[in-house]
Amino acid sequence: MTPLHEVIVNKNTKINPIWIMRQAGRYLPEFREIRKLNPDFIKLCLNENLSSEITLQPLKRFDLDAAIIFSDILMLPYGLNQKVEFEKGFGPKLGQINIDEITKLDEVDFVQKVYPVYKAIKKVSSNNIVKKQNKNTIGFVGAPWTLLVYIINQKSPKKKLKKNFFKDDFLINRILLILEKFLKIHIKNQIDNGANVIQIFDSWAGLLKEKDLPNYIYSPTLNLVNYVKSLNIPVICFPREIKNYKEFCDIIKPDAVGIDYNIDPKKILQDIKIPIQGGLDPKVLLTDKDTIKKETRKYLDIFKDHPYIFNLGHGVLPETDPNMFKYMVDTVKNY
Ligand code: CP3
Repeated sequence: MTPLHEVIVNKNTKINPIWIMRQAGRYLPEFREIRKLNPDFIKLCLNENLSSEITLQPLKRFDLDAAIIFSDILMLPYGLNQKVEFEKGFGPKLGQINIDEITKLDEVDFVQKVYPVYKAIKKVSSNNIVKKQNKNTIGFVGAPWTLLVYIINQKSPKKKLKKNFFKDDFLINRILLILEKFLKIHIKNQIDNGANVIQIFDSWAGLLKEKDLPNYIYSPTLNLVNYVKSLNIPVICFPREIKNYKEFCDIIKPDAVGIDYNIDPKKILQDIKIPIQGGLDPKVLLTDKDTIKKETRKYLDIFKDHPYIFNLGHGVLPETDPNMFKYMVDTVKNY
């Protein structure tokens, strides 16, 4: 069994596997080199040779326990024929959705558009670095709520949503149903090609008031989580900054939950019984070795009797020094 599965499935508290959100990305010079020659981010995600190579880059440098496929949660709206672009210094920019067109879209059209993502997963999961060294291949999707945010808001919302976001209830409900259908297709294809853990990123869960959680997060996420479980693959949820982690876990029952860096790890330890992942503030990696060691060990100490996967509380920052990243990984491995 892989270390990640040991913790998630067998609730092993003796080991602390590690992988890091955005481990394949801009803090690595070898990634920036490829990126410079490939200005179109979506095209890069759809180049299975390059995207599989990028996925493996951090595993060649660091002793990580999983590969997370180099792709993006916004490949889903892209597959639904919404225009998706990434502008330097601005982030994602989406076109307007055409709900009538999306409603007519079928599975074959969608799969054809994002097919290279699945080919990349196949390449990564059958690569010796992953296969022979007993590592996981993590597939992922955006949660329905976070995708809805991008689809309607058409860009990252920073701290708040655009006015009138909730104006068209009927439209929102139609989009959520369509998302559920295509997210299941996207998950199934990732699993069929070798993904053996699925993470659901709900990056904007923190924008909702508690009263809105059942409608926009609990119902659609529960459907997806149960779907992944029915395929016998462990599912990790990351409902970033959600107002009530305990209630989320009680209702959704994911196999593991990722915590953000605003969460008090000691408090969550008392509240939540399922395996926990992450938490460390990515900004800690911008400090010095002593601080990194101290903060990394803090999480390992707190969760020493709890099934725990080491990760950060959000993605690694582009300005991170790869040597400091390595120092964190080695601190976990030598604990
Ligand atoms: O974690 C990994 O290494 C796997 C690859 C991965 C990317 N995006 C690559 C990427 C994953 C898992 C994601 C998920 C993702 N994408 C999320 C959820 C996690 C989170 O960060 O909250 C979200 C919200 C997105 C949407 C997205 N993609 C944004 C907002 C941006 C621009 C902001 C930024 O960080 O520049 C992206 C672009 C993106 N996705 C990059 C990478 C490596 C940067 C691309 C570049 O300019 O080189």
